[in-house]
Amino acid sequence: MLVLGIESSCDETGLALYRQGSGLLSHALHSQIDMHREYGGVVPELASRDHIRRALPLLETVLAAAGVQAAEIDAVAYTAGPGLAGALLVGASVANGLAFAWGKPVIGIHHLEGHLLSPLLAQRAPAFPFVALLVSGGHTQLMRVQDVGEYEILGETLDDAAGEAFDKTAKLLGLGYPGGPAVSALAARGRPGAVVLPRPMLHSGDLDFSFSGLKTAVLTQVRRLAEPLDEQARADIARAFVDAAVDVLVAKSLTALKRTGMKRLVVAGGVGANAQLRAALDAAATRRGFAVFYPELDLCTDNGAMIALAGALRIARWPEQARHDYRFSVSPR
Ligand code: KG4
Ligand code: ZN
Repeated sequence: MLVLGIESSCDETGLALYRQGSGLLSHALHSQIDMHREYGGVVPELASRDHIRRALPLLETVLAAAGVQAAEIDAVAYTAGPGLAGALLVGASVANGLAFAWGKPVIGIHHLEGHLLSPLLAQRAPAFPFVALLVSGGHTQLMRVQDVGEYEILGETLDDAAGEAFDKTAKLLGLGYPGGPAVSALAARGRPGAVVLPRPMLHSGDLDFSFSGLKTAVLTQVRRLAEPLDEQARADIARAFVDAAVDVLVAKSLTALKRTGMKRLVVAGGVGANAQLRAALDAAATRRGFAVFYPELDLCTDNGAMIALAGALRIARWPEQARHDYRFSVSPR
């Protein structure tokens, strides 16, 4: 079965071809980051319009890269939510339009399911079951993943997502959008312990997170210093923020592994690309004797490959979930 995946929930248009048995044939992405940068964040209307412009050219790209004809595609998978309503509608419309024209079935996929299955596309892929730490711009969750479609939320953020905290910290430190990679790079030049920030909910006893207090603590640190912030002071604050966020993410992941008795941890979502988080988790894995799995770096952030994969796995397990009536709606929340 050859599945076309379409992702358009936020600011990247991603298309990919995944074939059951052979794996990912091709994927292509257009990021709108440059377009949104001057506004300091994603402008939903601009995002929708750009998805419309990019979708079909990207389809040509993935077909050519895989060396297959559109007629060989067996099903189309698209992100049905959560995300920006207009952006989701573009992907859903394109997916249903193509599937209708080709006379093939179509399936809507939960964006987070795509993220949490994305490590299955890596060279070193995890077996089920596993604990998943999902850390993106919109979500921070720990999940028990028993098998495809069998998920249980063990804990989640009560306020901001981890990626959102990175992005807001970036703004406070005068770094651009998106903030995660910039904060990470600046933190690498910070001195450990020069600034210490709180570790929210580290000892709460549950698997929930809270990041809005950490953001406020960053703001307090920034205000304490004279303007303009010198480079070392900014780096020290970035370092303190990253250390605090990573500490909490690692500690809660360890607790989740302990409580479930599982030996495999999967990390997915944009913040899963973070070098400091990966280093800390790898060290903990060696120390505690569990295995940690990541998506390939280019598949950490939003992409069509994870949607094609999730569609193929779902249709293989539940063929009835593939629709032929081309009626669709999206679920922004
Ligand atoms: O998964 P994703 O691409 O989109 C959502 O579904 O939200 O995640 C985007 C988030 C952004 O907040 C971005 O700042 C963060 O992931 N991010 C990072 C890094 N790369 C992306 N955060 C920390 N370190 C990184 N290297
Ligand atoms: Zn995402």
